[in-house]
Amino acid sequence: MKRIAVLTSGGDAPGMNAAIRAVVRKGIYDGLEVYGINYGYAGMVAGDFRRLTIDDVGDTISRGGTILYSARYPEFAKREGQLKGIEQLKKFGIDGLIVIGGDGSYRGGAALTKLGFPTVGIPGTIDNDIPGTDYTLGFDTAINTVLESVDKIRDTATSHIRTFVVEVMGRNAGDIALWTGIGSGAESIVIPEKEFTMEEVVAEIQEGRARGKKHTIIMLAEGVMSGNEFAEKLSKFDEFHTRVTVLGHVQRGGSPSAKDRVLGSIFGYNAVKMLEEGKGGICVGVKGDEVVFNDIIDTLENQKHLPLLSLYQINKEISF
Ligand code: F6P
Repeated sequence: MKRIAVLTSGGDAPGMNAAIRAVVRKGIYDGLEVYGINYGYAGMVAGDFRRLTIDDVGDTISRGGTILYSARYPEFAKREGQLKGIEQLKKFGIDGLIVIGGDGSYRGGAALTKLGFPTVGIPGTIDNDIPGTDYTLGFDTAINTVLESVDKIRDTATSHIRTFVVEVMGRNAGDIALWTGIGSGAESIVIPEKEFTMEEVVAEIQEGRARGKKHTIIMLAEGVMSGNEFAEKLSKFDEFHTRVTVLGHVQRGGSPSAKDRVLGSIFGYNAVKMLEEGKGGICVGVKGDEVVFNDIIDTLENQKHLPLLSLYQINKEISF
């Protein structure tokens, strides 16, 4: 293995730069040449490659976003796109690839692996929805960003005795809503992985109000429905002085937390080691304090991510 490449794809996530930096530094430390591919798989197919030096990744560990830029590129799901990508990788003399991203990025990595190109995946998405790892890069920063906002929302909710529906990201996963729900003391957490009824949510609001609570926070995962739709349903029961806050893309930005910087460094370092050991078709992750290595195809095809659902019950029993 002489020359490796790294790309970021899908939604950006804080900590991606820490992972890129680790790939570049570990690669160069071991005598490899490291290339960056701009704009994910779209850039791969277009041949947008550049050699990265130690200095290119200086001063990046604390920066949000991704210095390699990112893109969603559904065309890479087709064999034609994958073969074009491999052609470019070969043209630039690349022997192994590291892909940092979420579900779609892993699918691209698995496809390249099936076509025989050594590829290692690093889980990078704020959604925390990748199987085979407890945490993905960006999740920790995102939940801290959400908490900062919800603390502020609570101030104004209390002043006006209002109910706030806070819609958070996560695509089809409830991790962000779950962790920030418990972390902000939300009266209700509504996530795709748990069935709920509006009657239940209404009862939670009413119980709090009966005990003199001046605010209600409902943490809603976007995978269930939109905040406005939820508020509309709530309005059928009572006015509740409901307001909706959609936190949106603010959740994807910002300087990575300590945890995401460390995770990014560990993931990047180990991904390079995997390629050096000739182990393509792997994705790295963490389980507890251990770094783990899973087969990327098996992870995608046979494993399922589930959020830490014990948090749901804990919240029910402590945030009423
Ligand atoms: O996957 C990350 C994510 O931020 C999801 O939480 C969200 O549903 C989606 O990306 C938004 O995508 P886009 O930035 O393309 O609108």
